[in-house]
Amino acid sequence: MPRRPYIAANWKMHKTVSEAAEFVDALLPKIAATQHDVVICPSFLALSEVIERSRGSAVRVAAQNMHEEESGAFTGEVSAPMLVELDVDAVVLGHSERRQYFGETDDSLARKVPAALAAGLEPILCIGESEEARDAGQTEGVLERQLQADLAKVEPGRVPEIVIAYEPIWAIGTGRTATPEQAQETIAFIRDALRERGAAGDSVRILYGGSVKPSNAAELMAQPDIDGALVGGASLDPDDFAAIVEAA
Ligand code: 13P
Repeated sequence: MPRRPYIAANWKMHKTVSEAAEFVDALLPKIAATQHDVVICPSFLALSEVIERSRGSAVRVAAQNMHEEESGAFTGEVSAPMLVELDVDAVVLGHSERRQYFGETDDSLARKVPAALAAGLEPILCIGESEEARDAGQTEGVLERQLQADLAKVEPGRVPEIVIAYEPIWAIGTGRTATPEQAQETIAFIRDALRERGAAGDSVRILYGGSVKPSNAAELMAQPDIDGALVGGASLDPDDFAAIVEAA
């Protein structure tokens, strides 16, 4: 089975509810004919607006984080059942900004990934190495450790339900994209590592993220193991994001 292209817009802490509404109204006519999975990850506050406005379209909606418990005394947190009740489809987990600025750990991801699956949310698990790790030749070791830790409590049979986003930290928001060859080589390594864990690596969709724009999207996504993109900055503009969807 070919893997369906998957293009996701990670808005990070951008767009109010009214700005989100404006974006969706502008985007939908531009992607009306797409057969790809198109996913928007707005702030928690704009989830409902994006869901309601995009009903009947190709757009699916993801949260940018969640807590692993279903409920409890965790001030400021949001749980999987809260997202599911809104009709959220997916959730970004382990984004490097969560790891770097908010203390997200592999231990908590080992609980969040199965919690998302159990609730019926598609986890978009982000992994990636720092510039120091790449320069020191440690990229594969870092990625292997992240996969090992973050998927520790996931049955191998459920791994194909997870989307993996490979985002080298040095390429995020820097304008410095991994070359198509670097991204292909690293994503092929991730696929092999999943196979070695006994998971059906061939059916897992693996995205590239890090300074993806209309000008480099086609070349990146033409690589045999790159199934799509997780787009930050360029996903804030409906024309740019639609052009990236078209490039897949
Ligand atoms: P940029 O596309 O802005 O580099 O961000 C990538 C990213 O972090 C997507 O999750």
